[in-house]
Amino acid sequence: MSGKVIICRCNDVTADEIEALIDSGVTDIEEIKRLLRIGMGPCQGRTCIPLVISILARKTGKRPEEIPLPKTRVPIRPVRVGVLAGGDDE
Ligand code: FES
Repeated sequence: MSGKVIICRCNDVTADEIEALIDSGVTDIEEIKRLLRIGMGPCQGRTCIPLVISILARKTGKRPEEIPLPKTRVPIRPVRVGVLAGGDDE
């Protein structure tokens, strides 16, 4: 992958940016997430995280399943306290 290939559409992060970061020695997915904000957009990484893992795997010679998923924040969407207490959503 090269050129202006958008990997994270939510935060406009390209394949080149990710590969440059990996080439500079950053191979921890949590650190990549923090530095480039991948996975922090509205989709919470549903699109980009698997792509970043495949780039990371290719560049480091690891298998994708050897790369842990980054931590997610819970809840992903705002939830009214009343819903958590078993009340109605309205
Ligand atoms: S595409 Fe990366 S957070 Fe949505």
